Amino acid sequence: MRPSHVTLYEVGPRDGLQAETAIVSAADKIALIDRLSKSGLTHIEAASFVSPKWVPQMADAREVMTGIARAAGVDYPVLTPNLQGYEAAKDAGARTVAIFGAASETFSQKNINCSIAESLARFRFVTDAALSDGMRVRGYVSTVIACPYEGPITPEAVASVAEQMLDMGCYEISLGDTIGVGTPADVARLLDVVTARVPRDRLAVHFHDTYGQALANILTSLDYGIATVDASVGGLGGCPYAPGASGNVATEDVLYMLNGLGIATGVDIRTIVEAAWFISDVLGRTPRSKVANAMSRA
Ligand code: HMG
Ligand code: MG
Repeated sequence: MRPSHVTLYEVGPRDGLQAETAIVSAADKIALIDRLSKSGLTHIEAASFVSPKWVPQMADAREVMTGIARAAGVDYPVLTPNLQGYEAAKDAGARTVAIFGAASETFSQKNINCSIAESLARFRFVTDAALSDGMRVRGYVSTVIACPYEGPITPEAVASVAEQMLDMGCYEISLGDTIGVGTPADVARLLDVVTARVPRDRLAVHFHDTYGQALANILTSLDYGIATVDASVGGLGGCPYAPGASGNVATEDVLYMLNGLGIATGVDIRTIVEAAWFISDVLGRTPRSKVANAMSRA
């Protein structure tokens, strides 16, 4: 059941840098993305076209998208919460956009200022526009295990939002443990329900590593046949509207595990480690990941 190849979906420049208190310059974001483009990654989420009042760290999304050196075979998806964001993303040359909803009502209100039902209605405008423009749309479901405001979330609530996003035309649904509280038992309970309603080859997993469970949760997901894993170079990340959430699982940590399992990714770990050191230097600290520290800069 474990896949022989995994697609690593890099979220560091978006999920990572949206949550750093320091505002990283567009030039440094571009330099990070250009380094990542040389690693063999095929998906690098580059920015968010969201309200700069809500997430000032992403205010330079257009500058970043128009400044990167796009590598052949690499996609640079961006987050678009509404049509306004979609139009700006399209204008900046995005080819893939991502809508992002939640399985928790309170998190939906705190993160995108509307109910789940309102968000899905809004997302349909985005997916209709994007699909008719020939773009691809990814769907995120946040708080798939628990919500920072409501506590535990049922797998059925997650499956319902995931199914509706799939019906809208999303090519893939990424299941986000936004606050990184899940354990492998929670992930198994979630995937038992979700994979019965959404084909596993249309699912990705997105673990934050607040409690150090992310690698174990990914291993569990691999055993469910999930073959796309979101990760963030250097373990950057969090969510400005999810208090207590820490960074995403580090790309280099996931890669080290996959390499050891003999699962192909096409991604060069040393290039990722060097990118982790680069962005950590910009942020004035060492990378959070074990692997970047173990492999050092050598
Ligand atoms: P709102 O205030 O309800 O929006 O925010 P509005 O439509 O009423 O517009 C209010 C103002 O925002 C207007 O400007 C609009 O022009 C502007 P004003 O007239 O006041 O000057 N505006 C925009 N500006 C730029 N781009 C846009 C845009 N839309 C409206 N697209 C909104 C609703 C969704 C915009 C807001 O809540 C928002 O931007 N939220 C984003 C929050 C966010 O980015 N969170 C982090 C990403 S999600 C995440 O990290 C989780 C994930 O990693 C998975 C996981 O870990 O679970 C994906
Ligand atoms: Mg996230």
